Amino acid sequence: MSSSQFGVFGLGVMGRNIALNIADQGVKLSTYNRAIGPEKELLDQFAQLIEEHHDIHIYDDLQAFVASLSRPRKILIMIKAGQAIDEVIKVLLPLLETGDIIIDGGNSHYKDTQRRQELTKSHDIQWIGSGISGGEKGARRGPSMMPSGSRVAYDQISLLLESISAQDASGNACCTYIGEGGSGHFVKMIHNGIEYAEMQLLAEIYDLLKTNHSYAEIGQFLEECKAYGQSSYLLDITIDILNKKEGGHHILDMILDRAGNKGTGSWGSKAALDYGTTNTMMAAAVFCRYMSSYKEERVRLSAEVNAKRQDIGIDLSALKNAYVAARWINHHQGFALIKAASSHYNWDINLSETARIWTNGCIIRSDLMTKCIELFKTKDSILDDDHFIKLIESKRSDLKNILSSAIKAEISIPCFQAAFDYWIHMTRASVPANLIQAQRDYFGAHTYERIDADRGKFFHTQWQE
Ligand code: 6PG
Repeated sequence: MSSSQFGVFGLGVMGRNIALNIADQGVKLSTYNRAIGPEKELLDQFAQLIEEHHDIHIYDDLQAFVASLSRPRKILIMIKAGQAIDEVIKVLLPLLETGDIIIDGGNSHYKDTQRRQELTKSHDIQWIGSGISGGEKGARRGPSMMPSGSRVAYDQISLLLESISAQDASGNACCTYIGEGGSGHFVKMIHNGIEYAEMQLLAEIYDLLKTNHSYAEIGQFLEECKAYGQSSYLLDITIDILNKKEGGHHILDMILDRAGNKGTGSWGSKAALDYGTTNTMMAAAVFCRYMSSYKEERVRLSAEVNAKRQDIGIDLSALKNAYVAARWINHHQGFALIKAASSHYNWDINLSETARIWTNGCIIRSDLMTKCIELFKTKDSILDDDHFIKLIESKRSDLKNILSSAIKAEISIPCFQAAFDYWIHMTRASVPANLIQAQRDYFGAHTYERIDADRGKFFHTQWQE
């Protein structure tokens, strides 16, 4: 019987929560997971969860699952990104028919999404790549969704995607058609890159303060940042984490200082190199996670050099301002990368809409993001807006103050450092790139432009004569 309106493939944490969310909208739903090894448990757990949902059917037989869906079939794949998705395509394609739509809701690489769109298109199947942010809770109660691919296919699923998404402050869905190709997954990748730097800035604040302040005091400082216009989901969870105790001890003190990652931050940083943008904060955050993973080496070296943090005070009011400036620079760098890729691929991504769907449901939702909605309605870049230039500039001396305190205390704060370096570099009319050009010309005859000649006219010097 083909009576289900929608299918969810994969019943891991995200899959089962999004399935329940879809069923809550009154949609008749078929769900599938293979019953192999430990995955059998996923099916059992889900069966227990859906007792009160009579409109959800569970399958472990792929053919029966596909046959249960009304046409054109719409299947949301919620499995781990990577090779596994290509395996699913292999088994699913022979069962599908012209016009069916597959939505990949994982953190797939945008180039994989583009490749899969080409492949499925040759079988008359539509492939939508959708970034989905918000973790387990978001999936269940309303995530932020970033779908892309064929507009015609998107229009057939837009009502459903919008109905399961979070809502912005005006009650509109935090879901918008991002553009053609892999633009949705690209935007999600940059969401994660911004997330990495936001998390790292908070980790650096924690590191700066933990010698001289209790966790309660650091939490109090973060509350003050909130009241200072810096409210965000990541700030809130950081306050909760600082307060959480187990058996009278802070859990944070028991957590090993090795940060994991699933790759989107490094993909985003590589994209910055590909499209010629300067995403130094995202990259700094990724490298910090990498360095954290060399735990044994760090322990050995620290004993060898007898490293000690100097006990110095941090000016809290300067830190608050430095945090504001660094966050604006991080968001500027992230949106600039989206803009660069959008021009490269002709995606025509609407930055204001992107900011809007990031104001709720997703991990980087914040008051700052809400301000970006208005800003990008008239400007293409945060650095085209006088108000924000003045705002960041007014915090320059505080950023400097925090960096010099960090150097004196020997505390590494690469994300704040990257923000400061970016700002002082970008606000200087002359940089020493004239020397780089001379060196290139010296050893490779790469030529250079002159300040006393028209741009685009190139010169070469016989340096050794
Ligand atoms: C979200 C998150 C989510 C996630 C990633 C990043 O938007 O819901 O970004 O996609 O946390 O898995 O994870 P890593 O920190 O493991 O790279």
